[in-house]
Amino acid sequence: MNIDGKHLQSIWFDKDLAVVKIIDQTKLPHELVIASLTTLAESCHAIESMQVRGAPLIGVAAAYGVYLAMLDEAQGLQYALEKLAATRPTAVNLQWALSRMEEALQNVPEDQRAGVAFDLAQTLEQEDIEICAAIGVNGADLLQKLWEEKRATQTKLNVLTHCNAGALATVDWGTALAVIYKAIERNIPLHVWVDETRPRNQGAALTCWELAQEGIAHTLIVDNAGGHLMQHGQVDVCIVGSDRTTLNGDVCNKIGTYLKALAAKDNQIPFYVALPVSSIDFSISDGLREIPIEERSALEVTHVTGVKDTGELATIRLSPEGVTASNYGFDVTPANLVSFLITERGVVKAKKSEIVSLKK
Ligand code: MRU
Repeated sequence: MNIDGKHLQSIWFDKDLAVVKIIDQTKLPHELVIASLTTLAESCHAIESMQVRGAPLIGVAAAYGVYLAMLDEAQGLQYALEKLAATRPTAVNLQWALSRMEEALQNVPEDQRAGVAFDLAQTLEQEDIEICAAIGVNGADLLQKLWEEKRATQTKLNVLTHCNAGALATVDWGTALAVIYKAIERNIPLHVWVDETRPRNQGAALTCWELAQEGIAHTLIVDNAGGHLMQHGQVDVCIVGSDRTTLNGDVCNKIGTYLKALAAKDNQIPFYVALPVSSIDFSISDGLREIPIEERSALEVTHVTGVKDTGELATIRLSPEGVTASNYGFDVTPANLVSFLITERGVVKAKKSEIVSLKK
């Protein structure tokens, strides 16, 4: 991604300092802070506290976490895998990356584990960049077709997105936003409606920041505005990411995604989900019953953090003191509401017979 005209990834290994570097996403959009990860505990904390977040990025961060653990204590492989697996429950990329690390390391002598773990973490990092770029190209083909249908009657294509499925949610490019970035490269005139994405506001804080850095036209809206815009012809297509998609095409993504898909269906608006194959959980079919939904602190609902006009960071309470609040992080959009899944291996319908073909 381009930040102030400079290319930056969300995570990388700094060879000079021999540390893992991340963009600390809890500080955005107010401050660009680069943090270092040097231990297993710091890696777990970074994932849990959402300094790094987004399904693909969580996977790569966990892979580096295993490497850092092996540097410190090569006999502690199982301990490291368990600690990292417990950080966040919903995004399947975490389990996927940890399984790849375990497979590669379990039969390796302890004195060679750190080296093998490092090489694989670097491979996963590079693979993620290539995968996301390919998702972008495949999705841009769809947007190109849509634009050819609409260009006679309108001056731009309006895309609605939810949460942040951008470069910040991956190593680079993103998934849903990769489609937008690749479409912009083809000179398709796009405007993006950005759902604020309460309670953590990844849309307002992260997606708006990323799109501004890339100079892409966008408008921030409250989470409840999408349906109204769709009814009034202001949305041509919805594109979101996914934390876990089942074999039959049910899509789990940030809370509120389901309501956007329902409104899109009611208004005959295509609803695309952009995701790497590593976000597909081929072992489950029923998204509603089989995907663990993360529940986070009620404080994220009752309070909000931002900057005052003075530039000072402040957290304030919105609700009456002591109110009971619940905070489900994700919901499941049933396959019948999804028009297409856009993956690095091609675009498929959200149904088992097509999804199964994506498995290597
Ligand atoms: O809780 P988060 O910020 O990790 O949730 C992120 C999302 O829901 C993204 O849409 C999803 O991970 C896809 S990211 C390419």
